[in-house]
Amino acid sequence: MFKNRIRFLDNFYCCNVKDGIKLQLDFAKSLQRIDMKKEAKIIAVANQKGGVGKTTSAINLSAALAKKKKRVLLVDSDPQGNASSGVGVAVKKNDNHLYQAYTGEIPAHNVIIHTETPHLDIIPTSIDLVAAEIELISLPNRERRLFSLLEPIKTHYDYIIIDCPPSLGLLTVNALTASHSVLIPMQCEYFAMEGLAQLVSTIRSVKKSFNHDLYMEGLLLTMFDKRNKLTHQVAEEVSRHFNKQMFKTVIPRNVRLSECPSHGQSIFDYDSVSSGAKAYLDLADEFLKNQRN
Ligand SMILES: Nc1ncnc2c1ncn2[C@@H]1O[C@H](COP(=O)(O)OP(=O)(O)O)[C@@H](O)[C@H]1O
Ligand SMILES: [Mg+2]
Repeated sequence: MFKNRIRFLDNFYCCNVKDGIKLQLDFAKSLQRIDMKKEAKIIAVANQKGGVGKTTSAINLSAALAKKKKRVLLVDSDPQGNASSGVGVAVKKNDNHLYQAYTGEIPAHNVIIHTETPHLDIIPTSIDLVAAEIELISLPNRERRLFSLLEPIKTHYDYIIIDCPPSLGLLTVNALTASHSVLIPMQCEYFAMEGLAQLVSTIRSVKKSFNHDLYMEGLLLTMFDKRNKLTHQVAEEVSRHFNKQMFKTVIPRNVRLSECPSHGQSIFDYDSVSSGAKAYLDLADEFLKNQRN
């Protein structure tokens, strides 16, 4: 059963994760099997507001792209580790994860884990990552640490998706510096636009100082409730300001989407016929179409 998932059969070693067995890759030895020419496109999923659907979107867009046979790496850059647990990866006390890669203790390829979803890998994280944000302040190139650690693994993936924490601190600045584009999920609620100016200003200053080519992948409306009048008003207001930068796909409020993280599954494994699954597949289609334009 594992066979489909193991791309580098002769170069893995096992570590126990939750009940199952996950495989960590030894990229150094597997380089020759990979098309070295193409580098991954890197997308930060960011919004300093909590609870707007960043993690849900990072997980399910990643899983949707993986379903379409794209090689995807999800990077859990929120110390809460919701993206890790959301794809069924539990980081135990002495496990290495994003923190050790951030501080340069070990290379990124040593913390990559295959998920249960074919083509979807993750760099998981745990609450220790909180310390990285503090330690980074005194490290050289503190804004470019994530960029540098992803550099050697870029050619192994088509897409790298970074789930950001709900803040505009150094972890988010690192994600924006490492990325080609930023995807901003927004919940359709009264204060949706609040804080957006601050986020846009952070994106602008990262663009100016560290990453000239950073651009907006799109604003994504999440938890859309079509029976709720306020939701429509907020959506109209947002589209008045950001029309061209909004995804046409809207993610509906769907209870199945809120249930799947506790099962450690993407929406496609948890309920592939739900409205949430359909929406994230539509989003992946729109996203892929935008890459060609
Ligand atoms: N489309 C949706 N429908 C229903 N619940 C959702 C939806 N998107 C996210 N949620 C739930 O809302 C909460 C916040 O979402 P999450 O993705 O964790 O936001 P963030 O990462 O921005 O903090 C979670 O409990 C999640 O399961
Ligand atoms: Mg989150």
